[in-house]
Amino acid sequence: MINWGILGPGKIAHKFATGLKDVKGAKLYAVASREVEKAKIFSSEFNAEKSYGNYEELMQDPDVDVIYIATPHVFHHRQTIQCLQNGKAVLCEKPMGINAAEVEEMIKLAKEKNLFLMEALWTQFLPHFEFVKHKITSGELGKIKSLEADFGFFKEFDPESRLFNKSLGGGSLLDIGIYPIFLALELLGMPDEIVADAKFTETNVDSECIMEFQYPHNVKASLFSTIQQETPTTAEITLEKGKIHLDSRFHEPTSVKVFTPEDEKNFEFEIPSNGYYFEAKHVTEMLQQGKKESPLMSFEKSLNLISLIDEVKSKIGLSYS
Ligand SMILES: NC(=O)c1ccc[n+]([C@@H]2O[C@H](COP(=O)([O-])OP(=O)(O)OC[C@H]3O[C@@H](n4cnc5c(N)ncnc54)[C@H](OP(=O)(O)O)[C@@H]3O)[C@@H](O)[C@H]2O)c1
Repeated sequence: MINWGILGPGKIAHKFATGLKDVKGAKLYAVASREVEKAKIFSSEFNAEKSYGNYEELMQDPDVDVIYIATPHVFHHRQTIQCLQNGKAVLCEKPMGINAAEVEEMIKLAKEKNLFLMEALWTQFLPHFEFVKHKITSGELGKIKSLEADFGFFKEFDPESRLFNKSLGGGSLLDIGIYPIFLALELLGMPDEIVADAKFTETNVDSECIMEFQYPHNVKASLFSTIQQETPTTAEITLEKGKIHLDSRFHEPTSVKVFTPEDEKNFEFEIPSNGYYFEAKHVTEMLQQGKKESPLMSFEKSLNLISLIDEVKSKIGLSYS
């Protein structure tokens, strides 16, 4: 049995804990919040044994095997380092750090301590995404010619909220732009060139970010993120012999359409509780097998992902101190 602990029982932690409930060989054992009452409410909802009013106590609990870090981006680096120093495996929410230097340090320590560490990029483990990757690598539709992906929702401006507050790592790029970038990285690899532009809020974080990644043979990925408007949040991959359309929202459990000149097919995928189940199951299995790195969401992938984000940040003039 793998005992999970959660730091920061907010929105995503609720969804993750719901997915975790269905994973065999895993249980939510402990929850830590900055307010003990909040931890207790979360624990009673998910039948966790322990509730802590600070994060450090959970990190020091000898019965915790792995810690899921579900706090705002800017805390991921420090808390991962602390968890690893306390001998705990870590599943850290995306983005793993706010720049490549942070992610490098986290990976270096995980290797030194011989502990499991992974970025919680749940799309990687979803059945529709596995299907898309298989469809492309099978070669039946030929090579990719272009990719388009957007991720957008409208959020009322609130300078204190983690989406707009620069000191909490606000902005569309780090929060949701990471998904179109991840899709391009996973399907096309590292681009030769990046062109990017952004609009900024009065708190000086990007409210929207438009990116074009260029690859050899004139292959392009057109990517977009925004927290100022609802957008389809779909992805379309054009290949030599057809198209693959990931329905809305492309980063979470959804259906996929495959178009060829002769045919149009819709594919649906079964999801047990919610999509976080697959990520939680993967990490639980990795730990049961004594693995220190996921072959699917590897250290190299997280480093490439944050390096691409860093490059976009430098093109649009965004930095976090
Ligand atoms: N994988 C996904 O689908 C997905 C979706 C949404 C978000 N995320 C990621 O998950 C992380 C958290 O996002 P969220 O939407 O769940 O945020 P949230 O609802 O605001 O929750 C974040 C939690 O972090 C804790 N926290 C610690 N220090 C904080 C501070 N100074 N300000 C605010 N909260 C603080 C709070 O818990 P306590 O006060 O109880 O300690 C809070 O409940 C982000 O990094 C985001 O990128 C991932």
